[in-house]
Amino acid sequence: MTPETGNRDDDILLKVTDLSVAFDTESGPLVAVDDVDFSLHRGKTLGIVGESGCGKSVSALSLIRLLPQPMGRIRSGEVWFDGRDLLKVRPEEMHQVRGGEIGMIFQEPMTALNPVHSIGRQLTEAVLLHQKISPAEALEQAVEMLKRVRIPSPEIRVGEYPHQLSGGMRQRVMIAMALINRPKLLIADEPTTALDVTVQAQILALIEELQAEMGMAVILITHDLGVIAENCDDVVVMYAGRVVEQAPVLELFGSPTHPYTRGLLDSIPRLDHPRKQKLRTIEGTVPSLSRMPAGCRFAPRCSNPHDDTVLAQRPPMVEFRPGHWVEACPCFREALANATAER
Ligand SMILES: Nc1ncnc2c1ncn2[C@@H]1O[C@H](COP(=O)(O)OP(=O)(O)O)[C@@H](O)[C@H]1O
Ligand SMILES: [Mg+2]
Repeated sequence: MTPETGNRDDDILLKVTDLSVAFDTESGPLVAVDDVDFSLHRGKTLGIVGESGCGKSVSALSLIRLLPQPMGRIRSGEVWFDGRDLLKVRPEEMHQVRGGEIGMIFQEPMTALNPVHSIGRQLTEAVLLHQKISPAEALEQAVEMLKRVRIPSPEIRVGEYPHQLSGGMRQRVMIAMALINRPKLLIADEPTTALDVTVQAQILALIEELQAEMGMAVILITHDLGVIAENCDDVVVMYAGRVVEQAPVLELFGSPTHPYTRGLLDSIPRLDHPRKQKLRTIEGTVPSLSRMPAGCRFAPRCSNPHDDTVLAQRPPMVEFRPGHWVEACPCFREALANATAER
């Protein structure tokens, strides 16, 4: 882990600024991602965490311009990746970026795998799209990649179809697809959510191993802070389409500041707490897109004393310690100012 301040700007592989995304509906546009900012250094892992419906997948799909069409629309923002704004490049160049420089593991495994083509055909097609080599060499790479993700008997498996594989094996094939062209960035959207705990740990360890080997950066999307703690350098906490807190991982776990982050932390099991203590969950649900307040979106679920004025104006993002940003709702801004003054 490198402290934010120690990095030069050219270490930054991805810089997302003011990203806003809406879905056009009959009753008008629904904003699913609202002015999101984050950046990622080469070779590092950024976790994006938040409950279901907070805009994690929509953010990720926007980076590679794969929003559901025709409803999904990027309203504003910049996605700087390795020297150019991906929101401005031509569609043909975007084809090269997708699956080439940026690999993606989708939340829905079947989105990425075609049920009517064999695993081998899909992998070799992905290779041939991005590399000028012969089909035989591409097949060789496919078998090699299946071996790397520890699919047993890869020479036989290349002839099989997605439905013939178990969930864990299918996930490994997805990882192979995402990594076969050695991307600079892997976006993994809940890569283990559908799997049982043992397989989950294996898959995450595998991603980490391949990351170290290839030197790629990773965006790891999850609703599980436990996964973040074990796998990430930096964390972005999303709530209701916005970033509410962002920090290096140790800093975030050491000084969680936004009431939403604290709520998420309270709902994961901890070894240093007596086992009998019941885990708390955050009461209520993420507000629906059509009923988002302009101000603090967590207020309706927040247990800090506050009045309705916090709903009126969007709280500012405050860098309350180096590299540690929080959306500073008035309900805790004073405490934050005191904590900052004490240092
Ligand atoms: N195709 C779509 N049409 C309309 N709304 C959508 C569509 N896809 C996602 N949304 C909405 O966008 C919001 C963010 O969704 P998503 O990014 O999938 O959340 P997460 O990945 O954090 O669970 C949700 O309110 C969801 O209902
Ligand atoms: Mg999602």
